[in-house]
Amino acid sequence: MTVGVVPTGAGLGAEISGVDLSQPLDDSTFAEVEAAFDQHGVIILRDQKITPEQQVTFSGRFGECAVNHNAADFGIDGSPEIYLISNIVEDGRFIGTPKAGPEWHTDMSYAKVPARATMLHAIEVPEMDGLPLGDTEFANTAAAYDALPETMKHRLAGLKGIFDFRGRKRGRPISEETIAKYPPVEHPIVRTHPRTGRKGLYVMRNDCTGIVGFESEDALSLIGALANHITRPEFVYRHRWRVGDVVVWDNCTAQHKAMQDYDLPQRRLMWRTTVKGTEPF
Ligand code: SIN
Repeated sequence: MTVGVVPTGAGLGAEISGVDLSQPLDDSTFAEVEAAFDQHGVIILRDQKITPEQQVTFSGRFGECAVNHNAADFGIDGSPEIYLISNIVEDGRFIGTPKAGPEWHTDMSYAKVPARATMLHAIEVPEMDGLPLGDTEFANTAAAYDALPETMKHRLAGLKGIFDFRGRKRGRPISEETIAKYPPVEHPIVRTHPRTGRKGLYVMRNDCTGIVGFESEDALSLIGALANHITRPEFVYRHRWRVGDVVVWDNCTAQHKAMQDYDLPQRRLMWRTTVKGTEPF
């Protein structure tokens, strides 16, 4: 197989061709995929016809899969690493998390060791008159850091953001057990990518609830200004889903946000896997 890598031309992301995830990937093919992932922050593989087990196998090439706290309610029999994002209702209940990620965020920032990668596989994509809905936007935190004035880079050096699960306002209510498992944690606002060494901004509204040593009001205004900067149009790629897409994003380089512009009878179903990462520095 010849692996093709075509950048999206937007703020980040590249489309990969020549890879069939229903077949075993040899090490050199995966090395090319991983290099594109490191460089572009988001990779897109179209027209994949895979089973849950094959998605878990591909996810496992990036590292150990995490079992999401939503998996207990929205899992798939036999593949606990997968949980469903979906607005589909069966037997009077949602089969998945209906409105995941409506605000800019990066996965598992509430944990001491956040996720390295997240993978979504599109099974059903909502549409209106042939127009796909439920896009996902991605923002390039490294390009956003590079574009900061040197004075701001200097000001941010060494600052730590406070990530407190209890401050989270998005998504469904979080259980007491999960809250107890994830006490507030501090992460560097300027985070170094563990593989490329590139610096990026690790800060966003809502999940990042404060900055160590700052008064709350000062922290929130700096967090807000940085969040606005990271999501400027030149740093963003908007993914328009097709059935069969597999999209993998790097939670150090990319923040993401799901567009909530559809509703039943427009159905959306994604299989989601998450790969464990390393402690931010
Ligand atoms: C997420 O935040 O993981 C969900 C993204 C999406 O459903 O598009």
